[in-house]
Amino acid sequence: MGKLDGRVVLVTGAARGQGEQEARLFAAEGAKVVLGDVLDDAGGALAKELGEDRAAYVRLDVTSEGDWAAAVAAAKERFGKIDGLVNNAGILRFNELVSTPLEEFQAIVSVNQTGCFLGIRTVAPEIAAAGGGTIVNTASYTGLTGMAGVGAYAASKHAVLGLTRVAALELAGKGIRVNAVCPGAIDTPMSNPEGVDPAATAELYRKLVPLGRIGRPDEVAALALFLTGADSAYITGQPFVIDGGWLAGVSLF
Ligand SMILES: NC(=O)c1ccc[n+]([C@@H]2O[C@H](COP(=O)([O-])OP(=O)(O)OC[C@H]3O[C@@H](n4cnc5c(N)ncnc54)[C@H](O)[C@@H]3O)[C@@H](O)[C@H]2O)c1
Repeated sequence: MGKLDGRVVLVTGAARGQGEQEARLFAAEGAKVVLGDVLDDAGGALAKELGEDRAAYVRLDVTSEGDWAAAVAAAKERFGKIDGLVNNAGILRFNELVSTPLEEFQAIVSVNQTGCFLGIRTVAPEIAAAGGGTIVNTASYTGLTGMAGVGAYAASKHAVLGLTRVAALELAGKGIRVNAVCPGAIDTPMSNPEGVDPAATAELYRKLVPLGRIGRPDEVAALALFLTGADSAYITGQPFVIDGGWLAGVSLF
């Protein structure tokens, strides 16, 4: 018995990183998984690896209303319904606020915040029609606190938590639970931009993070599984920090 037997879950940004691990874990736990991304080769290859009976790739730019409608239609045609959503797609750019071009700010908001809104708006009615289910939004520890150099990103992730709380209130009566994961530093392509020395990064996280290391994407996937499955049946509207203790307080060392 898998924890997601009988479920059909759409995961955005599923071609790599945390979304990939969520797709893999959800499929292993019995779900049919619809993988949405703009990286067609990687997303298609992952769906093929997971198997046609278990996974389907759809091109889904989360900023596009048309892509959302097409993705939901494809999911229903392939698997009959949709009763879970993981809004995972996101982008990060580093810039001080006073140096951030308007286009960059808007691009980050468009993917991280508007993409999450469009996902909720498009998929929630389908989940309701399926008899209820779950939405897991991907915020960040910067959805709960500030961090210099990522102003647009932090603003968009704070907004994701606002969307999460309001959606939880509005959708509870339809049997839909809405929660958010708030990862700290997780080892994915996003947190490993080209040119950054891995040894220096490992040393940084050894000092910064109480648990002494960067997080793994499969650890975030395990939290998303908890929030998607029945183990979290009485939880909605909440942010869940997964950061190795980074936000627990000020470290002396
Ligand atoms: N890695 C971290 O340290 C970290 C920390 C906190 C929060 N997060 C959040 O976790 C989520 C996953 O990030 P990740 O670390 O796996 O990054 P990643 O860059 O490895 O993966 C992000 C995925 O989203 C996809 N994507 C980007 N724009 C898209 C769009 N417009 N439409 C559809 N897909 C799109 C990318 O193609 C990619 O597959 C993001 O929302 C990110 O903000 C990551």
